[in-house]
Amino acid sequence: MTLSFRLRDALAAAGYTYDTVSDLLGTTAQAALARNETTPGRRVTRGGSPVETLTRMWLLQATVGIDDAERALPGLVDELCAEGILERSVSEVAARVDLRPYGTDSPDPRDNVSGNLWVASDLTPGLDGGPQRVGSDHVLGISPAATSLAEMTLRAPVGRALDLGTGCGVQSLHLATHVDDIVATDVNARALWLTRLNADLNGVELDVREGSFFEPVAGELFDLIVTNPPFVISPATGERLVYRDSGLPGDRVVEDIVRAIPKHLSPGGTGQVLANWAIRADTPWDERLAGWLEGSGCDAWIVQREILDLSSYVEMWLKDAGQHGAPDYYARYDTWLSWFDQVGVEAVGFGWITLRAAGTSDAAAERRLEEWRWGVEQPIGPEIGAHFDRVDQLRRLDDAALLASRPRLARDIVQETFGPAGAEDPSQIVLRRQTGMRRARPVDTVAAALAGAADGELTLGQLLAAIGELLGAIDVPARLDEVRDLVAEGFLEL
Ligand SMILES: C[S@@+](CC[C@H](N)C(=O)[O-])C[C@H]1O[C@@H](n2cnc3c(N)ncnc32)[C@H](O)[C@@H]1O
Repeated sequence: MTLSFRLRDALAAAGYTYDTVSDLLGTTAQAALARNETTPGRRVTRGGSPVETLTRMWLLQATVGIDDAERALPGLVDELCAEGILERSVSEVAARVDLRPYGTDSPDPRDNVSGNLWVASDLTPGLDGGPQRVGSDHVLGISPAATSLAEMTLRAPVGRALDLGTGCGVQSLHLATHVDDIVATDVNARALWLTRLNADLNGVELDVREGSFFEPVAGELFDLIVTNPPFVISPATGERLVYRDSGLPGDRVVEDIVRAIPKHLSPGGTGQVLANWAIRADTPWDERLAGWLEGSGCDAWIVQREILDLSSYVEMWLKDAGQHGAPDYYARYDTWLSWFDQVGVEAVGFGWITLRAAGTSDAAAERRLEEWRWGVEQPIGPEIGAHFDRVDQLRRLDDAALLASRPRLARDIVQETFGPAGAEDPSQIVLRRQTGMRRARPVDTVAAALAGAADGELTLGQLLAAIGELLGAIDVPARLDEVRDLVAEGFLEL
């Protein structure tokens, strides 16, 4: 049996699972670890059991005694050292990569350790105030961005998926729960080594390919493409951390990926990108990004989730690279801001890009670009899938078909009314979705009456006629436009 399969068995035998490790550490030590502090964790893992040893070694980056290590990983320590996963002195063993259990909400039916994955990546830098700098080929573990992409990914079963810039392979591990064939690519050979290890540890088959962006999949089509590319927008300095710097100017990497995705989608396929984009002084952000979609034949939904001011952005990424406090920190910070000035960037947007190969003309494609900084339901993937289903449904309905449809108010809607205390009638009515994007929509009495009466029994035509009799003449074309909006945003279902 290969080393990774024997390692997997040893991890399972040690009970090194997400739940066990969470229970062992408890909330205080976990919160401390999230702040890069290991002392509380070290204090609760001193017992010498296999799961304590593995937790100390991998999550807390503590050295452990050779006897404890052998007990936790029987017969494997020397081989793991030879592979570069552990390192050993005479009597102690330490981690050279991170290897931790990862709990998933949707247990993979093909995984015999239900809902638990193991993910190996490079060691988290900066624990307990240690050095923050990493090598240029550093491979990230499960970062907040990785989690965001996993949460926005559509999970409908499909045949083929591409995980572009796979890193340690975390997206592919998620994809394996609902995709038959997965191609995972990266330009970083170390990332591919860790991806293969993670595939074996989790009993997942992946087609792992080395190469830049779409080169390794030239001419191939996919039902789903997911990517969290190296999107940091920085001046070219010659230095490159491959997990975050593309080497391309500005946000070109994201533009290139968005322009390339349509050529690699099967009919009806979906491409999803988590990204930063430059917000320029001369063009509204949505106009610029809409330009990237021209000629694509794709429906698209782009959500700007955050706007980052340039100083915070530069500080965040200089700290991430371990430059904070370095002698040239001021010069780097200043150069970066001057470069933003020169190229006309005034802020950085962060958000979600989803493209659906609708096979339509640009004129018939539905492109929604919006800013939405409010809290949403997570995972948001199902709502993104539902959005594109609604777009398809509405495209097929002309006005006559819409009037003949039998709308039903979505189950998550509540109505909020506002007005002066004691007033008989509210001055404002708002319909609020409690799931998905958690949208709120002000409506007038006609739309509120329509929402209240839409129970799937009467046609829209009948509903509008009945409401017209009660509340006065109805402007039907305007109401049809409003109903389309209510359906598009998930307030009404057809
Ligand atoms: C932000 S990390 C994302 C890793 C992982 N997919 C995730 O969700 O956490 C970006 C990844 O893109 C890879 N990458 C950088 N330049 C690339 C290129 N030219 N072609 C393919 N992958 C690249 C990096 O090595 C890194 O693994």
